[in-house]
Amino acid sequence: MDIREYFEKRIKEINLALDKNLPKSKDMLSMAMRYNVLGAGKRLRPILVIAAAQMLGGKKEKAMLPACAIELVHNFTLIHDDLPCMDNDDYRRGRLTLHKAYNEAVAVLAGDALLNLAFAVLVKESGGANPSIRIKLIEEVSNALGVYGLVGGQAKEISLRGQELDLAVIEDIYMKKTAALISAAVRLGAIIGNANKKELSLLTSYGKHIGIAFQIMDDILEFMSGEAKRKEDELNYVLFMGLEEAKEAAGKNIELAKESLRYFGRRGEILLGIADYIITRDH
Ligand code: IPE
Ligand code: MG
Repeated sequence: MDIREYFEKRIKEINLALDKNLPKSKDMLSMAMRYNVLGAGKRLRPILVIAAAQMLGGKKEKAMLPACAIELVHNFTLIHDDLPCMDNDDYRRGRLTLHKAYNEAVAVLAGDALLNLAFAVLVKESGGANPSIRIKLIEEVSNALGVYGLVGGQAKEISLRGQELDLAVIEDIYMKKTAALISAAVRLGAIIGNANKKELSLLTSYGKHIGIAFQIMDDILEFMSGEAKRKEDELNYVLFMGLEEAKEAAGKNIELAKESLRYFGRRGEILLGIADYIITRDH
């Protein structure tokens, strides 16, 4: 199947499910949550949940709520990441960031509420997933987000700002702040698809490598847009290593991700397409 068509179909389904699971009332907090989530996101992480589950023969319906949960969590991270005390960004997804469209207090609270909603959605009866699977899903998401994952990575990045870093430190930060959640998305799909140990380990490796490549590509796109210069004190792989080296590093990670899929043969078609998409995307 054409990967673009696959993306378009899944995005429609995911957006419908997100809409259904977001609060409907017209109070400011609910409206702010909807504003952020229902913007023009690429939906990469929920698509990964569904695609990984499907590759192993799991049903799309079973993967949909965990997929939504990952997107809600991702939105929480974006809202807090954009705040003045973090990266201080005014625009995201082509429009005002949440604290600019509303205010900082609402943005902090909407982030908190989305994080909690994500766990509520994750434990919801989803296509009959049994309780032990649902506990595993919660474990995955909480580990990916916490001190050993995204939040820890963000803290490390901020604490080292302005200092000379070596490549190993940068890779550790990228693994935590970006690849942990992306690889958790793949692992959620694997768990829903009843992956055995070998399958789970190969898919984890795939997830980590596309996650690192995704962050390097994000740095490349930021550099190309001229934004990296404005945010000189922020970590950017291109400013550290050079453009050619950054492209090479992203490409190398995509190669390694694809190698992890070889075992799955033709079943890996969609995940292979997603790997290629990550380094050919333009936003
Ligand atoms: C942005 O993620 C944050 C990073 C980890 C670089 P995305 O680029 O996936 O954001 P949306 O959801 O498509 O807007
Ligand atoms: Mg950041």
